[in-house]
Amino acid sequence: MPSHLIAPSVLAANFKNLEADFKMINQSEADWYHVDVMDGQFVPNISFGQSIIKSMFALAKKPLDVHLMIEKPEKYIEEFREAGAEVISVHYEACPHIHRTLQQIKATGAKAGVALNPGTPVSVIDDILENCDLVVLMSVNPGFGGQKFIYRTLEKIRSLKKQIIDRNLQTKIEIDGGVGLQNAEAILKAGADILVAGSSVFKSEDPKDTIHRLKSIDIHTLSV
Ligand code: DX5
Ligand code: ZN
Repeated sequence: MPSHLIAPSVLAANFKNLEADFKMINQSEADWYHVDVMDGQFVPNISFGQSIIKSMFALAKKPLDVHLMIEKPEKYIEEFREAGAEVISVHYEACPHIHRTLQQIKATGAKAGVALNPGTPVSVIDDILENCDLVVLMSVNPGFGGQKFIYRTLEKIRSLKKQIIDRNLQTKIEIDGGVGLQNAEAILKAGADILVAGSSVFKSEDPKDTIHRLKSIDIHTLSV
């Protein structure tokens, strides 16, 4: 049985009728909702904040995986938790006191994640890996949906996975950006546990079926 999780990114959903898209995801085999918060400072785009997330929480029957692409995320952790976040990820590049911020997330009862930009090597999180429930490896430069997957990410997944196994940790690896049916198998084979998929799900002809196909990939039965 496939054990990886699928987290559709609602950034690519239809905001004129969020309820319909949430209904579809609720009925699908998706595991989490991936929720992208952008502040126009850390990344060049602005998305939405706590009040929209509160409405999403009311519609969602699955956990909200909130990805904070904002400066000074430590100022808002509790608010995002109250809005309904089950998983909160902050960017390593936005946190001078990342160890403290991860502890702050855990203190709210949420799962804590650290996200790394494509230009940030995985070695920078050596000393905090024990404190992360998940690591979000960005496979595009954050800020926009619909970008092309950066293939160098596969090397980063392999080296991070090795660390996690060697150190006997439970940390999960989430891949965010440009993920779809064309590359999901390679990403899972490299060692990913959670696939974020925005445009490849919502812009497909049959989003529920795309989720099903992403979920059904079983790397253990693939021929080598
Ligand atoms: C990028 C966001 C991603 C994005 C993914 O800044 O963090 O979660 O929504 O969208 P796709 O799957 O279209 O690349
Ligand atoms: Zn994201």
